[in-house]
Amino acid sequence: MTPPPGDHFRSATGPAVGPTAGPTVGQIPGTTRLRIRRATEADLPQLARLDEEAFPHGPYPFFVLRQLLTAFPDFLLLVEEGSELHGYVLAASPHEAQSWVLSLAIAPTMRGQGLGRLLMTGILSHLRAKGTHSVWLSVEPGNESAVALYLSLGFVPDPGGPRKDYFGPGEHRLLMSLTL
Ligand SMILES: CC(C)(COP(=O)(O)OP(=O)(O)OC[C@H]1O[C@@H](n2cnc3c(N)ncnc32)[C@H](O)[C@@H]1OP(=O)(O)O)[C@@H](O)C(=O)NCCC(=O)NCCS
Repeated sequence: MTPPPGDHFRSATGPAVGPTAGPTVGQIPGTTRLRIRRATEADLPQLARLDEEAFPHGPYPFFVLRQLLTAFPDFLLLVEEGSELHGYVLAASPHEAQSWVLSLAIAPTMRGQGLGRLLMTGILSHLRAKGTHSVWLSVEPGNESAVALYLSLGFVPDPGGPRKDYFGPGEHRLLMSLTL
């Protein structure tokens, strides 16, 4: 489905994500080339292209991506195959055992193959290992595939329903939370 404008939102098992690991964070079992790793500055151009494909109506500007990587270097994970970037997930560093997942995107041609779930379980394991107890995110209420993914991971929608104009006029968002 086409993601709505500005839809950066912007217990799970997954590949091990060690806080002191190098750039290679996890080889996916049963695959030879698919792996999850932390992003580096060199990944920014490819990351910006992927973000634009995933959020054509509201991609992060390059400078925002750079600042997010600088601010949260441990929490921007990529999934790639060889040198081809297939997706990324970004979370904020935990504060008082709480964190936000800020963005998740899979390249359009690679959707429906489990990569979104893989990235989410990877970041959730990593956040748990860093002492996070609750994770929040926001999602456009009509983004059915994303909402279904979050529900299947145990995220619970805000009982108050979508927040009106959360990201500006007409940009309603549903907040969802997960206790790790
Ligand atoms: C949302 C997104 C990240 C899902 O990634 P994905 O790799 O396609 O998802 P997966 O293959 O891992 O599927 C995980 C779950 O998502 C849900 N899902 C995925 N595609 C779906 C679809 N077309 N319709 C309904 N549910 C879907 C299902 O619950 C699925 O679990 P299942 O395979 O056990 O049924 C991807 O569609 C995307 O990048 N969309 C554009 C950007 C975006 O909207 N990001 C989220 C912002 S909040």
